[in-house]
Amino acid sequence: MTTYALGDLIDDRPQDGVFRINRALFADPDIYELEMQRIFEGGWVFIGLATQAENPNDYFSGFIGRVPIIVSRDGQGMLRCFVNACPHKGVRLVQKKCGNASRHVCPYHSWTFDSAGVNRNIKWQKSGCYGAGFDEENHDLAQVARFEDYRGLLFASLNLDVPSLADYLGEARKLIDVVVDKSPEGVLELVPGRVTFTYAANWKMQLENCSDQYHFTSTHPSYVRILEQRAKEQVDEVVQSSIGAADFWQEDAKGVSGGTMSFANGHVLNWGVMPVSNAQADFERAEELARLHGEAKRSWMFNMRNLTIFPNLQIAENASSQLRVIRPLGAGMTEMQTWCIGPRGESAEARKFRIRQYEDFFNPTGMATPDDTVCYEEAQLGMARQERPWLQGHARGLSASVEGGNAWSDLLDMHPSRSVLADAQLCDESVFANYYRAWAGLMKGALA
Ligand code: FES
Ligand SMILES: [Fe+2]
Repeated sequence: MTTYALGDLIDDRPQDGVFRINRALFADPDIYELEMQRIFEGGWVFIGLATQAENPNDYFSGFIGRVPIIVSRDGQGMLRCFVNACPHKGVRLVQKKCGNASRHVCPYHSWTFDSAGVNRNIKWQKSGCYGAGFDEENHDLAQVARFEDYRGLLFASLNLDVPSLADYLGEARKLIDVVVDKSPEGVLELVPGRVTFTYAANWKMQLENCSDQYHFTSTHPSYVRILEQRAKEQVDEVVQSSIGAADFWQEDAKGVSGGTMSFANGHVLNWGVMPVSNAQADFERAEELARLHGEAKRSWMFNMRNLTIFPNLQIAENASSQLRVIRPLGAGMTEMQTWCIGPRGESAEARKFRIRQYEDFFNPTGMATPDDTVCYEEAQLGMARQERPWLQGHARGLSASVEGGNAWSDLLDMHPSRSVLADAQLCDESVFANYYRAWAGLMKGALA
């Protein structure tokens, strides 16, 4: 195993205006192993929405790091999260992504569990001549150490020794509120239809990309050109459903077009000023949203917002609204699960509009996602060990980054640890340091 000191991997010298990371962070399998232990299996991770299991005995399956899990609403209506591995020989009780079942029967030797994870039957137990020690063992499915809900977003940890979820999310909760409060019922839901895809590169490429304004015009020119073309032609329903290229590049009264914010524990926001306009599905409720939540919060509801909750949740509200879950499969392989999300209670027309915009931009069939993933895979090739290990991408915006918030964060009474206000071309990359400082905090002790 390669041994690294933290300083070999992250060159963090704020006093000298330096922040650099080593390519090894993206390519070294030993680092990946430590990330699994320390970050994905040692800290909080996002696992799903409460609306994915609304009725008694509804369940969905997933992973915390490498450990398979089930989130299940038991017969009494309580949501639980337990390990999806039979105590007999480890076989997964549930192989389906989701469903409804009051009993889960193991496909190997038929041990049976209820929707609360309690063992209900061990096949031929009486005639099995088990020793006394067996009866004393707990045969239920193991509940995960920590499982909490913030506004219908479910998080879990295999490690008991983590802060409360409220503390972990901290000020970034206010940005989750912005998303959830768009619903007249205060419920965020997944639009039916799940997409899963993999790309052959490190999970942190996706982590960064969500906050990466710098790549947009370079990586997605075909998307931008098509928007411009449609605006000229004005011919069909797709034209009307598209957000215009111009909608992305607005400025406030002070010439600010957006920026970035860093929050404790590695959460990051990249945002842009967008007008309250009928280019967005939420426009039908614009007046009501201002009445219920105030104009300041409504401005944020219409702003472009790409939020990352470290390490594996991203909520992107730009060309439409998307929820992404990042699942690392190896140093150079990542699985993405993505959904269109929407506020429960919006009209059928608004939902349709949202979905059309979603199809346009997102997913392997959309006009943006494939451009990004191809770049991740190209970048991964360049992460091979070489003479000059340091990447240079994190210096952009460094001298524009200030401690604390600004007038825009004040609108939500939100207190980021750092922020950058930007014009259309600043495209801060220094915000990525926030990911790596959280990363370093969790990896400390595992590295020399
Ligand atoms: S592995 Fe589940 S019953 Fe044997
Ligand atoms: Fe992109």
